[in-house]
Amino acid sequence: MSEEFDFQRYLDEKRTQVNEWLSDFISRRFDDRRRLCQAMAYSLMAGGKRLRPILCMASAEAVGQADDPSVLACAGALEMIHTYSLIHDDLPAMDNDRLRRGQPTCHIKFDEATAILAGDALLTLAFEIMAGLTCEHSAAASAMRQILTASGYQGIIEGQMRDIEAEGKSLDLASLKQMHQFKTGALIEAAVVSGALLGGGTDVMIDAFSEYARNIGLAFQVTDDILNVEGDPDLMGKAAGTDLKMKKSTYPGLLGLEKSRSFAGELVNNALQALAVFDNKAEPLSALAYYIIERRR
Ligand code: IPE
Ligand code: IPE
Ligand code: MG
Ligand code: MG
Repeated sequence: MSEEFDFQRYLDEKRTQVNEWLSDFISRRFDDRRRLCQAMAYSLMAGGKRLRPILCMASAEAVGQADDPSVLACAGALEMIHTYSLIHDDLPAMDNDRLRRGQPTCHIKFDEATAILAGDALLTLAFEIMAGLTCEHSAAASAMRQILTASGYQGIIEGQMRDIEAEGKSLDLASLKQMHQFKTGALIEAAVVSGALLGGGTDVMIDAFSEYARNIGLAFQVTDDILNVEGDPDLMGKAAGTDLKMKKSTYPGLLGLEKSRSFAGELVNNALQALAVFDNKAEPLSALAYYIIERRR
């Protein structure tokens, strides 16, 4: 890596690897005559950025383990959990969105009951995949615990609850940060840490990676909030301006766009500092930190 490291190429290669793993899994395991499987496959393959799986793979690589089948399976499971959270996030009872990843949301394409069930099924399928990881047992168990905790009542689900409770209110900065960390940061942190665990990283490495991931996780949601204000819906594949309409508590709402941007930049700097002790195997993780705040979708 280093000077000749081509980040765009890296991103494309990893994305292709994740997409191929998911397609292969779907063709082996899903019954495409069943409506439930159709809805699960539809949302999974609708064209996400695959950031969480890529972070998991990049962190396994950074501790020296490239292309391990368990890492790829864990990456696929992470994308399933993320996709479930998006399907439910878009439901009428939640954010009531009609467009996701450039396509009609799951409940628009199918119906509400099917979307709820497809989300449930993707979440539980991810657990099934993680329970079957074949690598070293204690690493697999720790990775699984990280991911399950991040998905549950002390992670995404609590974050979503707080997001809804905060509609129409103005949260203080500390509460906003906590909500973001639960809603989005926890799974991003789990993606990075699970990769490092499965790759055989030491405790010191895991601590450094957690610090990196907490910072990029928050930066990711701050950027999502900024894009909701000023992003191009055609590039993002989802509507803009909805946070304001739904009276969501967001960073731009509290701090304004300029301060939100500089806050995201500060978070990325903190993340890079946490990686400073690693050699250039961690270069993709550094590049991913920049990508998270510079992305347009
Ligand atoms: C969007 O996540 C939802 C949040 C957690 C903020 P992504 O921006 O990673 O969505 P996809 O997977 O690329 O569609
Ligand atoms: C989605 O957050 C977070 C989860 C799905 C856990 P948002 O509601 O802010 O994200 P978008 O803007 O719909 O993608
Ligand atoms: Mg939401
Ligand atoms: Mg939403």
